[in-house]
Amino acid sequence: MASYDDLMSLSVRRGFLWPAADLYGGFAGFYDYGHNGVLLRRRWEDLWIETFLGLGEHYHLIDSTTILPEAPLKASGHVDHFTDLLVACTRCGETYRADHLLEAATHEEHEGLTPEDADAKIRALNVRCTKCKGDLGPARPFNMMFPLAVGPSGKDRAYLRPETAQGVYLNFKREFEALRRRLPLGLAIVGRAYRNEISPRQGTYRMREFIQAELQIFMDPEAFGDQVAYASVADVPVRVAWAAEKNEPSAHDVPARDLVARGLPSWYAYHLVEVQRFYLDRLGVPRDAFRFAELDERERAFYNKVHFDVQVRQESLGGFKEVGGVHYRTDHDLAGHAAMSRERLSVTVGPKALVPHVLELSFGVDRNVWALLDLGFRPGERNVLRLPPRLAPVTVGVFPLVNKDGLPERAAAIHRDFRRRFTSTYDESGAIGRRYTRMDEIGTPFCVTVDHETLEGKGVTVRERDSQRQIRVEEAALAPTLERLVFDGVPFADLA
Ligand code: GLY
Repeated sequence: MASYDDLMSLSVRRGFLWPAADLYGGFAGFYDYGHNGVLLRRRWEDLWIETFLGLGEHYHLIDSTTILPEAPLKASGHVDHFTDLLVACTRCGETYRADHLLEAATHEEHEGLTPEDADAKIRALNVRCTKCKGDLGPARPFNMMFPLAVGPSGKDRAYLRPETAQGVYLNFKREFEALRRRLPLGLAIVGRAYRNEISPRQGTYRMREFIQAELQIFMDPEAFGDQVAYASVADVPVRVAWAAEKNEPSAHDVPARDLVARGLPSWYAYHLVEVQRFYLDRLGVPRDAFRFAELDERERAFYNKVHFDVQVRQESLGGFKEVGGVHYRTDHDLAGHAAMSRERLSVTVGPKALVPHVLELSFGVDRNVWALLDLGFRPGERNVLRLPPRLAPVTVGVFPLVNKDGLPERAAAIHRDFRRRFTSTYDESGAIGRRYTRMDEIGTPFCVTVDHETLEGKGVTVRERDSQRQIRVEEAALAPTLERLVFDGVPFADLA
């Protein structure tokens, strides 16, 4: 298990991520990615795109600007309701997020508080300024969007987008027409979003500039249940923590059909199963480290009717932490934009006219990258980062066993050939053990070594990161073997 400091040290040392502008002492809530971090993040994004766009026939990726004018964000409710509760010290002026102060005092989550609730709890628990022990002033809502004044006159108010979702809603009508008027229609954006967090903290967990991967599924809630393969997943157990149990470290296995019996739409339960499959089967998250946490009426975002957070248990962050969410946003957004823009956003599909409802699958990319580092890193005698092979920044390391007898030339030729198919690294410096260690620490799943037997036509060795086992593979079979291991997920033990 890795602590927060273990992970940050690995990240900085091996080119994953670190505080932005650290030359100038850092910039709270902003992080930069290094050469390995970018590759890991992009591979996660590619897998996400492949998985979630694969859920429907008419699901596509789009993109939108990151600066949005004020009107749509007024229509969506963000100008008036996208707030956190801010508390300031009356003596030194230090500012806090009210729920974070209460969380630190009670070790429980306190989302969805009114200012009055927060004030009463702060008084009851005698919470004081952690910096100077001064009295705290009253809690007040603080809007988390970054405002901008656009143009030389500064009269055109705008904001950095607080979620990618709004970019999709603004383009729904055009895409609905371009994609020949069909529902369900899925539109996704993978891109940056911005929130002026009161207290950015815990590394990439709470950032002011971050990357989201969000799929908005536009659908008719009455028809959607028959358009997804719910029957095939009805018996699948879903890991759930109910709203009242979120502060416990536990989860129940609840068959999807029982979720439906409790009132969730079948299409909602179906997507919980698909999201769970992504985490357990594709990302390799252990079952007991995954759960959906229900949010009750007070806790859920103002635009959601049903809201379960996707959570992964992370030792470095102290327990289960949100990495995504499954949100039933109803027609909240399209109806709001229709009213504000005076454009018709209702559609006619078959005999029915409706404003489509939205099921949103929303993920924080940086949080997911951090979760993979947390779950994968085992510091110790061997510092190993157990990333799923397909997500590892470097797929294969290629080495000559020794730097003579033509082995470097032969290994370099294999590396050159690999570069067309994999991210390959060639390394001839230092003892072979050191070279394996360097690869283990950045999560490289396989290393290929050229030795004297290679020169006799007896193939090369392929070493697996986790077991450290080695097999000999003929050179002609090398690339297809690696492809099976990395992209088809064939276990190394099957080849060994
Ligand atoms: N679009 C949902 C969210 O940002 O959480």
